[in-house]
Amino acid sequence: MACTCVIGLQWGDEAKGKIVDLLTDQHEIVVRYQGGPNAGHTVVFGNQTFKLSLVPSGIFRPHVQCVIANGVVVHPGVLLQEINSLRERGVEVGANLLVSDRAHVIFPWHIEEDRLLNAVFGGEAIGTTLRGIGPCYKDKAGRSLAIRLGDLYRPGLRERIERIARTKSLMLSGLNGKIDFDPESIYREYADYAEQLRPHVTDTTKFLLEAAEAGRSILFEGAQGSLLDIDHGTFPYVTSSNSSGLGVTAGSGIPAKYITKVIGVIKAYTTRVGGGPFPTELTNEIGQHIRERGNEYGTVTRRPRRCGWFDAVAVRYSARLSGVDELAVMLLDVLSELPELRICRAYEIDGVQTTDFPSHTDDLRLVQPVYDVLPGWQKEIRHVRSFDELPANAKAYLNRIRELVGRPISIISVGPDRLDTVFAPALGN
Ligand code: GDP
Ligand code: IMO
Ligand code: MG
Repeated sequence: MACTCVIGLQWGDEAKGKIVDLLTDQHEIVVRYQGGPNAGHTVVFGNQTFKLSLVPSGIFRPHVQCVIANGVVVHPGVLLQEINSLRERGVEVGANLLVSDRAHVIFPWHIEEDRLLNAVFGGEAIGTTLRGIGPCYKDKAGRSLAIRLGDLYRPGLRERIERIARTKSLMLSGLNGKIDFDPESIYREYADYAEQLRPHVTDTTKFLLEAAEAGRSILFEGAQGSLLDIDHGTFPYVTSSNSSGLGVTAGSGIPAKYITKVIGVIKAYTTRVGGGPFPTELTNEIGQHIRERGNEYGTVTRRPRRCGWFDAVAVRYSARLSGVDELAVMLLDVLSELPELRICRAYEIDGVQTTDFPSHTDDLRLVQPVYDVLPGWQKEIRHVRSFDELPANAKAYLNRIRELVGRPISIISVGPDRLDTVFAPALGN
């Protein structure tokens, strides 16, 4: 039995979708367990590109059972739209997709609150995806104003929505003039979503526990990245769930003892969308070059992603935090034209060097990166399929990442397609 977790180790968009799709060959079940429609996972094969926000990236293999577990926040309208667009493109979505009745539901007031708070805080804003993620998780923790997917099928839903809509209208009016949610139309909209989703909604905790106990192989698909983790990331510039490896168990209902492997996914450089400190950020033409070559524009919001050098201090921290066994290094081809590359091996703060990752963002803002400078390889590598075929300077670059992060590299990605992949079991063993 293999229970594998695929976890982003940076600030998201590490190409987790590609890795999950690749590993579905070896797993029977793929589970999304946190985050929500803030995620944008890309899967490319043949000449088709799919972008998924709620549906697990295992959906393209008919034998795989996909599960959206309890820890995910679900906008039923977004989910239905995604299911329909997959079906239109010939992808089967039926009994192969289960959604937890415990998952919390995103309502219009969550999206409105997200929008208002981002507007109120202007330049200091977290810069969220505006999908209502934070406000929905807030209501989950607050309990009184929360609605779970299973609640949509219970008597008294209309009255419950009416009460919450009234309360939310009052609360949010304080932020920006008069807000008046129409409970009846929201009720009708969500009751209709519920009917359409009915065949998929079930107790996924029971399903997953039985699967784990029966020794079935499960792949956990992390969303966002470990540095966006609500508890251990660069707070408050984080998302509202445990997006490091630590979120797998609570978000799915699977005890930690079943997990056999954690794969940490990293870009060969660093990107970040939204606000918050980013020590190795490149605001010059090199950053621009990486953005263009890597097509670093948000999958969900199309915002240009901030780009920078690889930060081994941050990734060493998140690899330890997420319990990573192996690394998948993605988008290596994006660096192919640069004559010189840098890897941040330490931070300097007040004249003292450290490899510790600060717990407070104010301190992270102050660090000066200490760089190793390595020569680039300046050759295209998209066609490369084995470690030996890589240029010597690319091998040296990967080896330095491996040494600094302290984990072996098992996969190297040299292009977006399934086929543009090097499996490198020997490296670092
Ligand atoms: P995720 O959110 O972690 O699944 O990552 P995204 O899908 O948001 O962003 C990763 C982007 O990189 C997608 O557009 C992928 O198609 C693309 N991609 C994945 N691997 C590679 C690679 O090795 N090289 C290049 N050039 N692009 C890649
Ligand atoms: P995937 O799964 C990159 C970022 C947002 C913002 C912060 C909080 O595709 O890697 P939120 O809407 O979650 O409240 O926004 O987190 N963010 C992501 N950045 N990839 C993601 O998902 C992200 N999901 C959220 O840009 O800075
Ligand atoms: Mg993404």
